[in-house]
Amino acid sequence: MLSRQIADKLRAFETPFYLYDLSLLRQTLESAVSVANKYGYVIHYAIKANFDPRIIAIIREYGLGIDCASGNEVRCAIEAGFDPSVIVYAGVGKRDKEIRYALEQGIYAINCESLQELELIDKIAGELGKVQPIGLRINPDIDPKTNKCIDTGQADSKFGISYEEVIANIDAIKELQHVKVAGMHLHIGSQIRELHVFEYLCEKVNSIVSHLSSLGLDFGFIDVGGGLGINYDFPENEPVPNFASVFAIINSHLKTGGRPVHFEFGRAIVAQCGELITSVLFNKTTATGRKLVIVDGSMTELIRPALYGAYHNIENITSRAQERERYTIVGTACESTDVFDEGITLPRTQRGDLLTIKSAGAYGMSMASRYNLHDLPSAVYSDDIK
Ligand code: LLP
Repeated sequence: MLSRQIADKLRAFETPFYLYDLSLLRQTLESAVSVANKYGYVIHYAIKANFDPRIIAIIREYGLGIDCASGNEVRCAIEAGFDPSVIVYAGVGKRDKEIRYALEQGIYAINCESLQELELIDKIAGELGKVQPIGLRINPDIDPKTNKCIDTGQADSKFGISYEEVIANIDAIKELQHVKVAGMHLHIGSQIRELHVFEYLCEKVNSIVSHLSSLGLDFGFIDVGGGLGINYDFPENEPVPNFASVFAIINSHLKTGGRPVHFEFGRAIVAQCGELITSVLFNKTTATGRKLVIVDGSMTELIRPALYGAYHNIENITSRAQERERYTIVGTACESTDVFDEGITLPRTQRGDLLTIKSAGAYGMSMASRYNLHDLPSAVYSDDIK
């Protein structure tokens, strides 16, 4: 995380930009991998969280696999040097060409989200003369107690196949010649902070695995997805997420029957190592008395607050003022929802000050857009700041 000593050195770079603390990334990976190894768990990094080449190169050094959400993500991972045998690929709407590409590469598993998709994979695999390992993504109908916008495993969700549908079609699934149901896949949501939710997930998986096995559909692996949340409120208190807790819950509640267990963490790996550095352009006060600070970043660099009402802690890293004021921090985009935070207290803030928007390493740059023809933000790495 950003130390105040380097704040002045950041003046050398044009804002807005993402600043990545690569030593925190390494520390996070070290922690995740050392606890996972204790239980023999496999971690795939959800590359959708951040596909910055230097970040994924470091992730590769630590031996993680990759979880993808599109054919282009599979290609990006392979071009970054990940072996196809460590890549999984989920997605509710895979195009034919994406399925064909994944099949040609021979990835570890395509995590399949509908019966129609399963039939299509079987057909394309047949044309290629292959048998593709599949993770059946089952919707377990669990409330992950997170922001509704990033909840993916309740009965009405677009993700996964309902368990009832799997049971009703079990014979047809077993008869497919060019797909092998190699595993069971779940992902119930993101930014999960109430970790007991993972206990419910284990209970559901235990009963599904045992029922489906009794019906002759056996799974080789269990992939419980990602979702481990981070501390957006006080990032300095928890720079490395609590991997040990979630692994301990899975270890004590999941009946694996000796099956390998896979995880797909995105946010927990990269969120805390990234921040968005912006400069203050202007101050102004609305007719209602709201004091606005207009920064040179916007929802086109970091869309989470505008899209999900997500909170990111913001700090003025250059002001030395003693007085503190309440401000609303807004961006440059031509959208009224382009607000980073409302009514926060900061030291007196003025044109030219640098504001950091913290915990932005996940779903920041990877969701950036060119709305208003903004440039995509650049990246600055802690290793390069002397
Ligand atoms: N596996 C699957 C199948 C997923 O859909 C996701 C995230 C992950 C793993 C990684 O989840 P994580 O460990 O990062 O929670 N843009 C939103 C988050 C969307 C998450 C999409 N799926 C945000 O900014 O909060």
